Amino acid sequence: QIEKLEVAGPYLNIFLGSGSFAESFWNYIQQENLYKNIAGNKGKTIYIDYIGANVGKPLHIWHMCTPSQGQVFANLFNKLGYNTISDSHIGDWGIIFGKLIVAYEEYGDADKLHENAVEHLFELYVKISSDTEKDDSLEGEFRSAFKKLSEGDSEMKDIWAQFTRYSIEAMNIQLSRIFVKPDYNIGESFYEWLGLAKMEDYPDLKYSMKDIVQELIQKNIATQNEDGSVGVVFPDEMKIPSCILAKRDGTHGYLASDLASIRYRMQNWSPKKILYFVDARQQLHLRQTFEIAKMAWWYNDNTEITHAYNGFISLKDGAMSTRKGKIIKLEALLDEAEKRASDIIQEKRDDISGEELQKLSKIIWIWAIKYGYLKKSRETDVIFDWDEFMSFEWNSGPYIQYAYVRAQKILKKSATNLSFDILDYNTSEEKELIKHILWFEKVILEITQTYYPHSLCQYSYDLTKKFSAFYNNVPILSEKDGKLKNSRLVLLYGFSRILEESFEILGIPLPQEM
Ligand code: ARG
Repeated sequence: QIEKLEVAGPYLNIFLGSGSFAESFWNYIQQENLYKNIAGNKGKTIYIDYIGANVGKPLHIWHMCTPSQGQVFANLFNKLGYNTISDSHIGDWGIIFGKLIVAYEEYGDADKLHENAVEHLFELYVKISSDTEKDDSLEGEFRSAFKKLSEGDSEMKDIWAQFTRYSIEAMNIQLSRIFVKPDYNIGESFYEWLGLAKMEDYPDLKYSMKDIVQELIQKNIATQNEDGSVGVVFPDEMKIPSCILAKRDGTHGYLASDLASIRYRMQNWSPKKILYFVDARQQLHLRQTFEIAKMAWWYNDNTEITHAYNGFISLKDGAMSTRKGKIIKLEALLDEAEKRASDIIQEKRDDISGEELQKLSKIIWIWAIKYGYLKKSRETDVIFDWDEFMSFEWNSGPYIQYAYVRAQKILKKSATNLSFDILDYNTSEEKELIKHILWFEKVILEITQTYYPHSLCQYSYDLTKKFSAFYNNVPILSEKDGKLKNSRLVLLYGFSRILEESFEILGIPLPQEM
């Protein structure tokens, strides 16, 4: 296994022989489970809080970010054998629902709501907002509608339940286009415990927002102010600004629902990790949440709670903004990407059209968009530039897709049974590719700790480059020596398998043809 040894000053250099490459590669790639060495504790839960979209507002370009990032970790921890729970933690609570209920009573249309809840609610929101500019007494109406809803008024609950159900269904259709599929859609409202129908089958609540606020008062963590509101003042040395848990009319806000959700998650699953894929602007809010939950002993060091935040994303040319350049709808963005992919393919390939063209653009656009986003470091701000995202060159989804399809084609063409136990690798291209394949587990382990999916993208890109060098310089099907030919086909198999694993984790499907 060792080709030569060399003394170099205080070091001893060991040069591995080709036998050693073949053996390590063979040992690794023939296993059914490629994650054996880094697999999770059986039955341990990883809880993923992501998406966080708000009912009443259309999904926008930002909803490419936390959903894509979070889904990577749901897929990844699943593969590692954990019980993963991905929860969209929908924003369906707060004074805005008082506002929407008042607007619905004034201008609402049941048919429109059923047909396109997101659109209709947004319409209502815009209308009522302009009314508010003329008539400031409306604010009081919104507050009292929300208070009634909080107290469980059945008429209000009924309208509101329709808002949320239809909106969540519509959101999930868009999210499924980018291969994001939450296990649960537990809205912030769940923690008020109004006993509404659940979207999925998750356990009932034991401690509502009201209960946890009471508990925090009893534990001397929160204090009731003279006007009836409840807040937390942190010890000076923590240098964290104080915050409000309940308003003076007793209604609960964002912080209370996040606290109640920690209590709920810990109680039902005692997860090993709770990961928040939420954007960077919420760092203070989540820090306040985590610190309060810790002071209350709702979790301890056996559980890791991390805010894996992402930077901001904006569109370079602003061309797709709807209202005053503020919102770039996700749906429009995805439609546009699909259309652009189709145009590019048509330009490059005049041999395909019709259904085939449609099929191909459907695979390519998602790669361009999702890979284009995930390859960037999670924490940096991203400017969405069509030319860059739709590029089919170099570190792009389509470049990798194409290499994968080439490898698949050769494997199909060879149509021989691969044999794992007589491998022989002599060229530097083969060795480089093998070394990189054996690096896979390390990269996976690393991202379970850093939560940086871009490392996996970079890894896949490097793997593809090494594959291309091998493919371009080493004969495969034309190799006369049966043993070498088999070895090279096995290497193609190994390359394909690792790419398949990587992209299942990234949540991007691989094409079989291109
Ligand atoms: N709905 C929130 C917003 O739009 C984001 C929710 C993030 N998740 C959480 N657990 N706080 O600001």
